Amino acid sequence: MAKLIIEGGKKLEGEIDVQGAKNSALPILSATLLSNGENILHCCPIISDINVATRILRYLGCKASINDHTLIVDSSGMNRCDIPENLMREMRSSIVFLGAIVARAGEAEMYFPGGCELGPRPIDLHLSALRKMGVQIDERYGCISCRVRERLHGAKIVLPFPSVGATENIILAAVLAKGTTVISNAAREPEITDLCDYLCKCGAKIYGFGESTILIDGVDSLEGSVHTIIPDRIVAATLMAAAAVTGSELTINGIITSHLDAVLPLFEDAGCKMRIKDGRLKISCPKRLRAFKSARTMPYPGFPTDAQAVMMSVATVAKGTTVFVENIFDSRYRHVEDLTRLGASIKVANKVAVVEGVEKLFGAKVVAKELRGAASLVVAALGAEGTTEIKGINFLERGYENFEIALAQVGADIKKI
Ligand code: UD1
Repeated sequence: MAKLIIEGGKKLEGEIDVQGAKNSALPILSATLLSNGENILHCCPIISDINVATRILRYLGCKASINDHTLIVDSSGMNRCDIPENLMREMRSSIVFLGAIVARAGEAEMYFPGGCELGPRPIDLHLSALRKMGVQIDERYGCISCRVRERLHGAKIVLPFPSVGATENIILAAVLAKGTTVISNAAREPEITDLCDYLCKCGAKIYGFGESTILIDGVDSLEGSVHTIIPDRIVAATLMAAAAVTGSELTINGIITSHLDAVLPLFEDAGCKMRIKDGRLKISCPKRLRAFKSARTMPYPGFPTDAQAVMMSVATVAKGTTVFVENIFDSRYRHVEDLTRLGASIKVANKVAVVEGVEKLFGAKVVAKELRGAASLVVAALGAEGTTEIKGINFLERGYENFEIALAQVGADIKKI
């Protein structure tokens, strides 16, 4: 099994590009099922989750080809409406195909995503919304079977929590439904906006996305379109964290400042200087970082849960105490044990993690257990003294494209063996 070997303590320098956003590309790939004709998607990240999504599209009978970072999908040949269990298990967020398959085919069959690396991953909000829109759902033996009697119809849906996946599935089901759908307390993440931008280019009528009330007027059909996926704000935060723990000066290309509004102040508090112009961020980090006091994960525009782990790596070597509060997922401190193995001082009690910054981390053998946790271990190892060996990098590869190559190009001593 592949592992990363990182010799820590090397300064990073130069320029690095941010890849396209995984969490935009996935729902947009699902949305291609709704359009007649060819879709050209630029800036798709080449990562294993996108590979799984492409395999799902091909399994469903669609044509999907990739050239460099451009994915071309033509779903006119779609001839199935089920997703096999092995593909559901490989990527639990494949549930985002549910709304699109049911809207396109009038039926869908797939497996429950089940519990995952972040704790239980319920889909009750997805299912209750689809039921309101006229989908009959049978849940048995871990399998979800959906049927639509006539045509999906619009509905008023109030989400008790602004779930990203549920908002996406409702939008995907609503764009071709009869009548108007209103989603209250919708998720406002930039990836939702990107999905809606793409769908509007295809001819969908969606209003208010990026706000907490989204209105969708169903249309009869959608055309294919050309779209560029937004840059991945979590990968951007990870690169900034890598610069911070190594006391480096790095230029990061592909920054949408507003997407990082909740993250940038933490780097400022830590003593990093940042200049942003035309999507390029130059970050200059001090030798010794300062603690940034607290980071509480919240739905967007709050501090993202996906950036919690990499920011914790920054806090481990910052002078002072930083408090993390994880409000989104139940089981999102699985990287703590391995950070501790590198010498970090972290105490966890339920949702709260208290990090006492230490002078230095020291290399060790660690095993990543989930995607963002894997990224946090890479960040921590880059700043640590000595050699770190990270196993479980299949998790990293779900969301970070050739990360070791990109980091080596800016001076990190990192290799995959
Ligand atoms: C998406 C992102 C993930 C990110 C998360 C929160 C993708 C592919 N994944 O995941 O990277 O960490 O948003 O920003 O875009 N919940 C329910 N019932 C439901 C749905 C969700 O109780 O039906 C709960 C979840 O258990 C969790 C919370 O709502 O506690 C947030 O989940 P959600 O926003 O749905 O996250 P995902 O869409 O799964």
